Amino acid sequence: MTEHYNLVRGLHILAVIAWMAGLLYLPRLFVYHTRAISGGELDTTLQEMELKLSRIIMVPAMTVALILGLTLIWIDSQTRGWGFLLKPWMLVKFTGLIALFGFHGFLSASRKRFAAGQNTRSERFWRMTNEIPFVAAIAIVLSVTTKFLD
Ligand code: HEM
Repeated sequence: MTEHYNLVRGLHILAVIAWMAGLLYLPRLFVYHTRAISGGELDTTLQEMELKLSRIIMVPAMTVALILGLTLIWIDSQTRGWGFLLKPWMLVKFTGLIALFGFHGFLSASRKRFAAGQNTRSERFWRMTNEIPFVAAIAIVLSVTTKFLD
């Protein structure tokens, strides 16, 4: 498995790209959804787009990114032990991951509220939430690429 490390790392990054695309795009769809009349054509179209984005892209991509990330942890542990899990750069990565998983869960619950015609949040709110996954991604990517205080 160790010899496949770089391949697994590449696939991990690709899965992360797909997951991030969904995390950035779904709040964008919510921005337009706040303007839709409940039961109207725009409402129905957006509900379908949001459902497909979530089921076909976001959940599978998140699952693959997680499985491959755990595989990388396991391969790393074979060469340098488990100690790296407590290094500052890894703790920053884990903190960013908690934010991304939490954000994913929040978007999922919000999608269901839109589908039930129960959204109470404003267009401005959805425009601003767009920034959260990107800020978390900056912390995650720079912590793993720099491995500061390793
Ligand atoms: C889903 C849970 C995740 C786990 C368990 C995980 C775990 C890991 C591990 C163990 C590595 C190898 C670190 C090393 O070089 O020793 C890695 C690499 C990497 N991860 Fe993740 N990761 C996850 C999600 C993410 C996310 C969400 C992002 C970006 C937003 C990300 C970006 C990266 C990048 C860019 C690398 C390559 C770093 C390099 O080669 O310098 N990961 N990941």
